[in-house]
Amino acid sequence: MAVITTIDDLKRLHKRRTPKMFYDYCESGSWSEQTFRENTSDFDLIRLRQRVAVDMSNRSTASQMIGEEVALPLALAPVGLTGMQRADGEIKAARAAETFGVPFTLSTMSICSIEDVAEHTRKPFWFQLYVMRDEEFVDGIIERAKRAGCSALVLTLDLQILGQRHKDLKNGLTAPPRLTLPVMADLATKWRWGLEMLRTERKTFRNIVGHAKGIDTMDSLNEWTAAQFDPRLDWEKIRQIKRKWGGKIILKGVLDVEDAKMAAEVGCDAIVVSNHGGRQLDGALSSIRMLPGILRAVGDRVEVLLDSGIRSGQDVLKALALGADGVMIGRAYIHGLGAMGEAGVTTALEIIRKELDTTMALCGKRDVADLDRSVLLVPEDFEGRWA
Ligand SMILES: Cc1cc2nc3c(=O)[nH]c(=O)nc-3n(C[C@H](O)[C@H](O)[C@H](O)COP(=O)(O)O)c2cc1C
Repeated sequence: MAVITTIDDLKRLHKRRTPKMFYDYCESGSWSEQTFRENTSDFDLIRLRQRVAVDMSNRSTASQMIGEEVALPLALAPVGLTGMQRADGEIKAARAAETFGVPFTLSTMSICSIEDVAEHTRKPFWFQLYVMRDEEFVDGIIERAKRAGCSALVLTLDLQILGQRHKDLKNGLTAPPRLTLPVMADLATKWRWGLEMLRTERKTFRNIVGHAKGIDTMDSLNEWTAAQFDPRLDWEKIRQIKRKWGGKIILKGVLDVEDAKMAAEVGCDAIVVSNHGGRQLDGALSSIRMLPGILRAVGDRVEVLLDSGIRSGQDVLKALALGADGVMIGRAYIHGLGAMGEAGVTTALEIIRKELDTTMALCGKRDVADLDRSVLLVPEDFEGRWA
């Protein structure tokens, strides 16, 4: 096997080893995919300042996120259907994150349940909630996350209705996949995936099936999901959920200064500046472009995390140097998981940490806490002039 040195190497292996419908589900944005593309290309616009003759010994990437000690200020983002990228994917990713020393976030739309992940890990993980119309279900899942000892609730605000992703419709995405002829032909070349999948019981949305009333089969689940994301979610409802949870809360999917101010006013431990990896509002600006304005507005009141577009340790450095307190990664670790399971997630984390550490040193800094605008060359019009 070729030597793996980048997240892109993992992505190629992910593509080769994973059924097309799940790889495409990961590697796509909504509509024209403009926002998806710009999330990464906008990072390239920012350049770095090379500094020399600075003592670069004893470097550290260790930090804190919402008061938790972390090996680097990075968390694994919630990713739905992770257990379809690789059997028991959420458990594998959570274990890799735990060993590495960074938070793992479990999606509401995961294949492995909260209880599955809690049973296979020792440290608390974060739980991501989508607000559903079925209040009994929402109350129940909040209680389950509390019982499992989750240390933060990540409330996602940018997916109350689904941005259309053409590939998912064309591929007929389901979990588990429906065995049509094209799907079977594809699976025939993905034998490793199939063998592992045969050995696990975890093949559908286990946070939901058996927990929401009347959901026992896949067909009813599809209907339930389409009908259940609550389009009435507003700041009052967010306050209610915050009260019900009673613990640390992170509001994810904030991309606008006005919304960031509201989030700070409602009160939260952190916000995640995010456009859902370009999967929701196509045409929205990239997260990295929106970050400086949001930091100016609320950076002194809440912790500000950023996701969408991070594919390297250099991207992490750029976000931190602009002022983010930490980042989340989605596809970067999913590529690792799809490529090589738990070891692949660890490889993705190692690649990112090494890139961050080396880049930090070449910029003349020894500690992530010391990263600031002085290490960056940011185009004067980076944030853009939009009327
Ligand atoms: C395949 C996939 C599934 C996702 N599912 C969820 C989800 O269930 N809940 C959520 O809050 N965000 C979800 N996201 C968004 C991620 O949490 C994160 O915001 C995004 O992946 C960041 O962009 P990046 O992939 O470029 O790092 C998903 C992203 C991907 C790629």
